[in-house]
Amino acid sequence: MIGEKIISFESIDSTNRFLKENYRFYPDGTVVVALEQTSGYGRNGRHWHSPRGGLWFSVLFKPRKSLELSFYTRVFSVAVVKTLENMKIHANIKWPNDVYINGRKLAGVLSEGIFEGAKPLAVVVGVGMNVNNEIPAELKTRAINLKEITGKEISIIKLMESILKNARVIFRKYSKKKEALTRIWKRYLLQKEGDFVFLEGKKGKIVKINPDSLLIDFDGEIRRVYSLSPH
Ligand code: BTN
Repeated sequence: MIGEKIISFESIDSTNRFLKENYRFYPDGTVVVALEQTSGYGRNGRHWHSPRGGLWFSVLFKPRKSLELSFYTRVFSVAVVKTLENMKIHANIKWPNDVYINGRKLAGVLSEGIFEGAKPLAVVVGVGMNVNNEIPAELKTRAINLKEITGKEISIIKLMESILKNARVIFRKYSKKKEALTRIWKRYLLQKEGDFVFLEGKKGKIVKINPDSLLIDFDGEIRRVYSLSPH
């Protein structure tokens, strides 16, 4: 069960990296949380700033049968949004799984799989959320913390417990009805089919939103896109 075993560190390089290296020794559902990460990372290998005051944790899954990685990511991005809703805070998901409030990023989710051939041995889902931590000046226009929204310090552990509880419910309810979770995730998405986006300086129209990719029409040329961020 998600969160039955919780391992906590004062400081670690990355909770995702720890579980990827040590998954053999821990059961399905193990959570690793750290007060700070010295070398946290996000999608596309980007550095993820993770000082004290933020919520940085990873969950280990040892699936008996193969599930898409994006399913796990979706479980947690929806769990984060639901947790915020329980706190009367409205958030959206920026495709594919960033949690945004008022145009600024609050949280991100990163799922990584360890495979033996086609067989998934382990899946590690990392969640990073700016909570009480200061946002560096150069990120202030793009990132936000929860403290700024609520006006007070938030208990990191209570917040994690609440996300884990929502994730448990969502996982149980939708692992056999994955399309139903995709529909919920789509409702929270900032981007809608038909919207225009700018990518590499070109304007395109989103024709189809998939969990792993977007189909974008650039003046009649349909391209499959895996990331909306500049590299
Ligand atoms: C993203 O938006 O690119 C995903 C960010 C994921 C960050 C979390 S923090 C806990 C876990 N450990 C890491 O090194 N990364 C994830």
